Amino acid sequence: MTNHHADATDAGAASSSSATGTTVTVDAHLPSDWARGAMREDIHRAFTRRPMILPPKWLYDDRGSEIFDGITRLPEYYPTEAEREILAGHAAEIAAVTGATTVVELGSGTSDKTRTLLDAFWSTGQLERFVPLDVSEATLLAAADMLAARYEGLEVRAVVGDFTRHLQQLPRGGTRLVAFLGGTLGNFYEEERRAFLGAMADSLEEGEWLLLGVDRVKEVGRILDAYNDSAGLTDDFIKNVITVLNRELDGDLPVQDFDYIPFWDAKQERVDMRLRATAPIQSRIAALDLDVALDLGEELRVEISNKFRIDQLDAELASLGFELAHSWTDANEDFGMVLARRTAD
Ligand code: SAH
Ligand code: AVI
Repeated sequence: MTNHHADATDAGAASSSSATGTTVTVDAHLPSDWARGAMREDIHRAFTRRPMILPPKWLYDDRGSEIFDGITRLPEYYPTEAEREILAGHAAEIAAVTGATTVVELGSGTSDKTRTLLDAFWSTGQLERFVPLDVSEATLLAAADMLAARYEGLEVRAVVGDFTRHLQQLPRGGTRLVAFLGGTLGNFYEEERRAFLGAMADSLEEGEWLLLGVDRVKEVGRILDAYNDSAGLTDDFIKNVITVLNRELDGDLPVQDFDYIPFWDAKQERVDMRLRATAPIQSRIAALDLDVALDLGEELRVEISNKFRIDQLDAELASLGFELAHSWTDANEDFGMVLARRTAD
């Protein structure tokens, strides 16, 4: 990781053309061997400490991104439609209040709901640039092409990167609105969330904007149904991390010897998604030269999904350099969206 600049020669900036001839610029902040190097460190740490905890970014290879897209269409998974409803109701107001000329989207994935936001910005004529950033390259580039075709003349600058490491490399200029949608903020641990929001504040100029979509604390049964769907997609999604690490790090962990166990952690107000060994496991991760042993019943935490109380989030944002401008919810009050402005230091 030597040079993160947009024109970095190690990582590279490249261009590809969309169907309409509009240019999509791709900033690849991740050198080709980055993912494997970072994954090696993360997986080694996960299997040599107790409790065993994996960072969720390794869930999103091409197949993981596809399964996640399926999850967003499940009837039990309410966050996507709830957030879409909020965006549909308030996108025009967000465009007017912020006056933003660049929209950055972190963890953009398919940028599906983002069209609702961008349509409002586009119709005012104020939007000059869209910057989606995601670690999942193929999904990011497909979305960037789709959006370049939809908004002819818009500069689309796709950034292949890690939002825990590359916020300082976001392109500057104009007035930026950084959108972090879908409740992905909830996938951070508390200390990581504070570090992320602090880094976000550092990378924004006074008067620039942050738009956060977060899932709210609600009746536990509905939350758990969203993470334990009857079609079994979440089970596939969480277990996919074993397939990813076997493939990338030459491992032989038996995916069939894990059960997916989601549960509600009432104290932390978060869903805790684990894999539990259904048999004693003796495996090897050859690329790490690491033998892995799990007892029957031993658990590996793959992901958490925090649910928020908006007043607490507001207080956290205020302590980290943001001033709340607006907050909205859907009619069911399931999901929250917060618009905050970077204040002076
Ligand atoms: N924003 C979309 C997708 C949410 S899924 C929505 O609201 O539906 C989370 C997305 O974040 C995935 O596309 C995943 O690839 C990406 N992601 C996860 N960890 C990341 C990281 N550390 N850096 C960049 N992208 C990450
Ligand atoms: C991306 N993120 C907001 C999802 C969530 O709801 O926490 C990831 C997810 N994991 C299982 N289902 C969905």
